[in-house]
Amino acid sequence: MLTVTPLKPEFGARIEGADLRRPLSAEEFTVMDATINRYGFIVIPGQDIDDDQQMEFAARFGPVDQTRATVDVQKQRLKYSAMNDISNLDEKGQILAADDRRRFFSLGNRLWHSDSSFKATPAKYSLLHARSIPPSGGETEFADTRGAWEALSAEMQAQLRDLVCDHSLIYSRAQLGFSEWTEAERRQFEPVPQRLVRRHAESGRIALFLSSHIGRIHGMPTPEAMMLIRDLLEHSTQPCFVHAHRWAVGDVVMWDNRTSLHRGRAYDDRRYKRDMRRVTLLDVAPTLEQEAA
Ligand code: OGA
Ligand code: MN
Repeated sequence: MLTVTPLKPEFGARIEGADLRRPLSAEEFTVMDATINRYGFIVIPGQDIDDDQQMEFAARFGPVDQTRATVDVQKQRLKYSAMNDISNLDEKGQILAADDRRRFFSLGNRLWHSDSSFKATPAKYSLLHARSIPPSGGETEFADTRGAWEALSAEMQAQLRDLVCDHSLIYSRAQLGFSEWTEAERRQFEPVPQRLVRRHAESGRIALFLSSHIGRIHGMPTPEAMMLIRDLLEHSTQPCFVHAHRWAVGDVVMWDNRTSLHRGRAYDDRRYKRDMRRVTLLDVAPTLEQEAA
């Protein structure tokens, strides 16, 4: 039997009583899927699972994104290319050198974002599992982009409803001054268009589709566009819309990238290992091919 405890009234829920080493029953699957659709993210504590078990659990919820979007892919630590390495470790499991390019690239995870919004078909759910954590810091924060939409004025909603933004990893990294890309990376990370406002079919609610990967809004001068995005990000990440998850080893957190934003928080990554692994599910189609809000 699963027990569901909401974290905020309509955002975030903790689910106890699961054992992800074994296949989910149909009933457990239904509870988890309904809970993430209603609450935007779920925390499933106490899971001692390996890469295979995490991959299998994720695949229950839909097609897994098989392609990693990262730099220096030839130096990978993890067995599955569908598993994203959200750690500060090199291919030998040692803490990354202070000047390692992968370390600088990973700092982009500390900007508010929605996973894979820079891919033509963005992410549906992300499933992050904590294998080892630092003694302090390294929380992950989540922001409720349905609550944020509903709190906007009707005038503002009307202005935003039909806007289309370009997203790229190159735009988010540029905010940190990370600008050295190979030709192949520039091609791989070409901007893709996404709706700014989307309807979440499962709940019937509307969400802002924000991300630090946004670098342009179609038909709007860039400084004006980027100021608007900055204002919307600030609006959406006010304390009333945010929950900070303090990790314990064995936690699985699964979030819906269609209805939430997230970011990692700082920790002493030169001293402590933080080993987190993520499997990402694909949304059904590019947002422009989905129903308008
Ligand atoms: C991610 C991510 C933030 C963190 O796994 O997609 O952005 O806290 N993680 O590591
Ligand atoms: Mn992320």
